[in-house]
Amino acid sequence: MAHPSTVILGTGSYAPPRVLTNEELALQVDTSDEWIRTRTGIRERRIADDAVAASDLAVEAARAAMSDADLEASDIDLLIVATITPDYPMPATACVVQRKLGLRTNSACFDLNAACSGFVYSLDTAAAMLGSGRYRHALVIGVEKMSSIVDWTDRNTCVLFGDAAGAVVMGMSDERGAGLLGTRLGAFGEGTELLWISDGGSRTPITQESFANHSHRLRMKGKEVFKLAVRGMEDACREILEQHHLRADQISLVIPHQANLRIIEAISHYLELPMDRFYINVDRFGNTSAASIPLALDEARRLGRIQRGDLILLVAFGAGLTYGSALIRW
Ligand SMILES: CC(C)(COP(=O)(O)OP(=O)(O)OC[C@H]1O[C@@H](n2cnc3c(N)ncnc32)[C@H](O)[C@@H]1OP(=O)(O)O)[C@@H](O)C(=O)NCCC(=O)NCCS
Repeated sequence: MAHPSTVILGTGSYAPPRVLTNEELALQVDTSDEWIRTRTGIRERRIADDAVAASDLAVEAARAAMSDADLEASDIDLLIVATITPDYPMPATACVVQRKLGLRTNSACFDLNAACSGFVYSLDTAAAMLGSGRYRHALVIGVEKMSSIVDWTDRNTCVLFGDAAGAVVMGMSDERGAGLLGTRLGAFGEGTELLWISDGGSRTPITQESFANHSHRLRMKGKEVFKLAVRGMEDACREILEQHHLRADQISLVIPHQANLRIIEAISHYLELPMDRFYINVDRFGNTSAASIPLALDEARRLGRIQRGDLILLVAFGAGLTYGSALIRW
């Protein structure tokens, strides 16, 4: 019989040291610090060196999370890497990370693609697998090298994204009512083409033409995505609160996907929950996709914003278009 609760035993994060400011970006594309700050809340983002891949960022965050959990590589038997910027189209970045961390051969390793909702999707997947009783400790990593897929000539998108990794170690606890209390996942598949990379998959393999018109790079219809993000994240919060018979003001801290400060402000407005209950670091990192929530979670913990017993709400939205929320009793 499975233990009652899936808990987070440790967190870790890593961002590459190189800071790219709005002012520097304004030298590359027709934009300004003022435009970026007022439309998105972003001041700067981190950019990994050319030689650094997603697995390199992932390994740093994973080591920090394992050390925080006081566990060794040999204790992990499940590794999920949420990413849309894998080291290679194949094999999974999880296998590269497994090798670098020296995890056991008999650990299950796979990548999960749910874009910016990837970490919340992965938490749910890990919880279900741990709950089956067939795994003991899961390492769940959200990592992106977004700088490798953005179009650096497109001011509509290149100002928004950054590189980072965040990780958690999960396990089971006999303490009832602790840890991951529930999740709410979903997707608006009809919005696939609002935020995507059209070329480089089986539909349209990369050609000379792809390179010429940059269609192997990320494209987004920002306005439409903005509206759906607000709606999707608000609904994901409301539904999970209803499922657990909770009011928004019972949440100690919301850790939202960090895409745009205005999206977070809109959710705060609609949920009637003040902004000081939302953890914000989009100003320093931009949108780091699957890394965004675990990076913010780790920072919030280290800053003492999360205490034992607190109710924490994670909420994400991303390409797919996917969305998800998770409720955690810390
Ligand atoms: C991208 C986003 C910041 C744009 O903000 P917006 O208020 O919707 O701005 P608009 O799309 O109306 O663009 C307004 C103008 O600014 C211009 N613009 C776009 N990017 C610009 C930039 N970096 N600098 C200066 N001007 C820019 C546009 O070209 C447009 O000009 P036009 O009216 O002459 O065509 C916003 O739509 C957004 O955040 N969308 C969601 C993004 C997101 O979070 N995606 C990930 C979800 S996980």
